[in-house]
Amino acid sequence: RIPVLTIDGPSGSGKGTISRAVAERLGWHYLDSGALYRAVGLAAAWEGVDLSDAEAVAQCAARTEIRFETQGAGEPHVIVNGKDATRQLRMETAGAAASAIAAHPPVRAALVDLQHRFRRAPGLVADGRDMGTVIFPDAPYKVFLTASAEERAKRRHKQLKEKGVSVNLDSLLHEIAARDERDAGRAVAPLRPADDAVVVDSTGTPITEVIERVLAVLPE
Ligand code: CDP
Repeated sequence: RIPVLTIDGPSGSGKGTISRAVAERLGWHYLDSGALYRAVGLAAAWEGVDLSDAEAVAQCAARTEIRFETQGAGEPHVIVNGKDATRQLRMETAGAAASAIAAHPPVRAALVDLQHRFRRAPGLVADGRDMGTVIFPDAPYKVFLTASAEERAKRRHKQLKEKGVSVNLDSLLHEIAARDERDAGRAVAPLRPADDAVVVDSTGTPITEVIERVLAVLPE
C-alpha cells in the first residue's frame, strides 16, 4: 500500500504550511482537501446554486473541474473550471462557504474518489479535517495539529495581510471560532483526532520545529 501521512486540524493550525513543507521534505504528493471544499463552494456560488441545498451542491461538486498548478515556488495555484481562483479561495468568505457545504453528506461523498486518487507513489501527505478518520483511515501515519484559537487567528491574519487582504483581527477570531464550532459539531465527519493520531500542539512553537515533530511520526 502506498503510504499516507494525514494531517488534520482546525483552521489556522498551520496545516497547509506544515503539510506542504513535510511533503517536500519526503518527496511525496500533497493533497489540500480544504481547497476542494473551497472550490466547490465557490463554483456553487458562481452558478447561483443554493448552498443549503445538499443535492444541488453535490451535483455541482461532481461537475466542477479542480486543478492544482505548481507555478515556481510557493503555494500551487487552484484552477476552478478553467479560472485561476487562488486568491479568492483564500478569503474567509470562501472558508465560510466551504464549511457550509462541507456539512452536507452528499457533497462529502462526491469528493471521496477524487481525494483517493491523490494516493500515488511514493507517498501522500493529506491535509484536512477528516483525512485520518474518514478518507484514509488505514493511513500508517496520522497527525492532529492544533494551536490556541488566538494564535490561529493571528496566524491567519498575518497570512492574509501578506496576501494584501486587510481584515480585522477580532472579527477574524470570531469567524474562525464560529467555523471551528460548526466543523466540530456537524453530524458528518466532525473535526476530531483519529484514535491513532499523534496530537501536535504548535502554540508558541516555530514552524521549523513543528515540521520536525511531524516528521518524527515517521520511521527514520
Ligand atoms: O485553511 P483552513 O484550515 O482555514 O481551511 P481549509 O482547510 O481550507 O478548509 C475550509 C473548510 O472546508 C473547513 O472549515 C471545513 O469545514 C471544510 N473541510 C472539510 O470539511 N473537510 C476537509 N477535509 C477539509 C476542509
